[in-house]
Amino acid sequence: MKKLLTLFLFLAMLIITACGTSDQTDDQTGDTTEKKTLKVVTDAAYAPFEYLDKGELVGFDVDFIEAVAKEAGYEINIVNVGWDPVFVEVEDEIADFGISAITINDDRKQTYDFSVPYFLSTNKILVPENSDIKSAADLEGKIVAVQNGTTGADAIESLFGTNNSNIKKFENNNLAIMELLAGGADAVVADNTVIEEYVKNNPSEKLIVVEDTGSFEAEYYGLMFPKGSELKAEFDEAINKVFENGKYAEIYNDWFGSDPDIDNLKSQQ
Ligand code: ARG
Repeated sequence: MKKLLTLFLFLAMLIITACGTSDQTDDQTGDTTEKKTLKVVTDAAYAPFEYLDKGELVGFDVDFIEAVAKEAGYEINIVNVGWDPVFVEVEDEIADFGISAITINDDRKQTYDFSVPYFLSTNKILVPENSDIKSAADLEGKIVAVQNGTTGADAIESLFGTNNSNIKKFENNNLAIMELLAGGADAVVADNTVIEEYVKNNPSEKLIVVEDTGSFEAEYYGLMFPKGSELKAEFDEAINKVFENGKYAEIYNDWFGSDPDIDNLKSQQ
């Protein structure tokens, strides 16, 4: 008898626990105040947007997305998966979205949905101080290091050909810069803020940044969602809130020491 009672109690507890779990699932759909944790993926080798500082994931994108997610009512877990996996994980819906200084463009829009733009960028050229490279055209016949699968790589490939052996492609941008420093490349093409910041922080390397507005277009970064994600609308709204409540300007100022042109970003929506 005692055994039967124990079994009964055990079963009753199982049922209660199971109900508890399904309640929690309801919470995650947003019915109550409990926050759902989203998986956010990045390639943390792109200072000052996302990088590792003594093992800690930091950067403008990190502060920005923390503020936006808070506004949207979500907890986030940012995972450093690397550049190519960002695209795979978002497409396969292993991650809820990606933030990684990702440029919104027509090609990517075929596979992903993007948030409203949150940052203006353009590709520029990083070269040694004494280089004779003064424009993108001057890169002809030179060894150019780029991060594989970026808009910088695309821009150089459309100028000099997709299979041009003078274009050295790396898995992340830090490796491309290291190749330049080691003398294995004459230039690196990457997002202006990233290479400008690198030059500023590494004066002993004697590098400069060359601009070529004729060859490199203005680009805008966005959060990258799986196609059809319902999160897009919620995050667009939250981004606009941080634009309006001063939080975006505060984070921008922390990282760049100047005020952002929010009107320009909003004009692109
Ligand atoms: N904005 C460029 C692109 O979307 C480069 C971004 C690279 N980002 C990174 N975290 N490595 O292609």
